[in-house]
Amino acid sequence: MGYNPKDFYFRKAKEQNFAARSVFKLEEIDDRFHVLKPGNKILDLGCAPGSWTQYASQKIGPKGFCIGIDLAKVNLALTNARFEQGDAFDEPTVARLAAEHSIELFDIVMSDMAPKTSGIRVQDQQRSFELCSRALDVAKARLRKGGHFIVKFFMSDEFDGYLKTLRPLFEKTEIIRPKSTRKASYEIFIVGLKKL
Ligand SMILES: C[S@@+](CC[C@H](N)C(=O)[O-])C[C@H]1O[C@@H](n2cnc3c(N)ncnc32)[C@H](O)[C@@H]1O
Repeated sequence: MGYNPKDFYFRKAKEQNFAARSVFKLEEIDDRFHVLKPGNKILDLGCAPGSWTQYASQKIGPKGFCIGIDLAKVNLALTNARFEQGDAFDEPTVARLAAEHSIELFDIVMSDMAPKTSGIRVQDQQRSFELCSRALDVAKARLRKGGHFIVKFFMSDEFDGYLKTLRPLFEKTEIIRPKSTRKASYEIFIVGLKKL
């Protein structure tokens, strides 16, 4: 069967009032590794249209807070989350948002960032790799000891090198391809558990 934009997970997301089908990827990661906890402070890089933040908002409850950053504007309002239109590469934006919410270090840094695809595979892989590298830099600087990192990675020759950089920073590293990932997609998720 070919690509169906309105597939099972798309309809399920609609039924459950989530902004995107991507939510089921985070849900599966969380079901497997139990990363999101009540009271957590979370940084969601590449948050639009907002489904990961919606999921996080439910899991972290009223004592938690999630900051979502995306180049695109998010049209959702949640009491325990803030959406900021901005570039994850812009360090002052990240610093300002953390300071405004009195967050010194995050419990979770997660990135579902993806570039606008050009159709030229090598170019798309390179841009995706730059986003993953940026997400890891943010995690290095802003994730607390014992915190968790979730990042979407588009498979490329850079994968082994990326893992080699990431592994020593965490107690455990897991790789998962969620069931809701489209068959044709070459994305996988890397989960760094318990920052050292
Ligand atoms: C697959 S979508 C994220 C879906 C989101 N996790 C959700 O559940 O709704 C990827 C997002 O990454 C964002 N993105 C790409 N480059 C970015 C950057 N430099 N800074 C912030 N967001 C970026 C895109 O604008 C896009 O909205």
